[in-house]
Amino acid sequence: MRLAINIDHIATLRNARGGHDPDPVEAALICEKAGAVGIVCHLREDRRHIKDRDVQLLRKKVESKLDLEMAATPEIIRIAVDVKPDLVTLVPEKRQELTTEGGLDVVGQKEYLKGVIDTFHSHRIQVSLFVDPTEPQLDASKDIGTDMIEIHTGEYAEAVSPRDKRTQLKRIKSVAKYGKFLGLGVNAGHGLGYSNIKPVAAIKEIDEVSIGHAIIVRAMFVGLERAVKEMIKLVKEKR
Ligand code: PXP
Repeated sequence: MRLAINIDHIATLRNARGGHDPDPVEAALICEKAGAVGIVCHLREDRRHIKDRDVQLLRKKVESKLDLEMAATPEIIRIAVDVKPDLVTLVPEKRQELTTEGGLDVVGQKEYLKGVIDTFHSHRIQVSLFVDPTEPQLDASKDIGTDMIEIHTGEYAEAVSPRDKRTQLKRIKSVAKYGKFLGLGVNAGHGLGYSNIKPVAAIKEIDEVSIGHAIIVRAMFVGLERAVKEMIKLVKEKR
């Protein structure tokens, strides 16, 4: 299993003082040096963390893979087509939310999303759809030609009782299998961290996880390079 790092919260910290530090681009390079296979950033409509300048510079500096997380709105699509990340991950976005709250409703907006995917493909940009772990969402994703899906692991991460955790994990496992059966690339992410990654890392159908908050938090105490290396070890341990 591979690890991609979401660096949004380096930008959150920078923006708290309105200056230049810490620079998410510098953070991205440290993550790559530590073994991350990709850098993820979310250019939100309100630019609360990552800014346009970050995305442009990341495109120039990131040598592994740049994954631009984004809402499928005309403005951000224009920017993405211009910047040409290696991959875009389409997510739903609400202004009031603290972080992405749920998966995309692919079933309910198949036609629109198909057009968006076609646009990206015509610019040779791969597409991933961030979806809740349900088969209908995967069927719809496959139908409209996505390259991969990212399974929303938020409910698993937030489950409190061991029973609920087990149930959520089963859903993730079964949908990951289904994704592979459909021939899709299968990623996972949201709310994953040092204490809950192992059971997810053991699911062999998941190709890659995307982790942000937990690693940036850990980095504050042990440094970014070590925080990334520790997570890579956990992600690989079960294979
Ligand atoms: N994947 C997606 C689609 C997300 O929206 C986020 C949060 O930005 C993440 C992964 C990373 O989540 P976390 O910061 O909780 O690790």
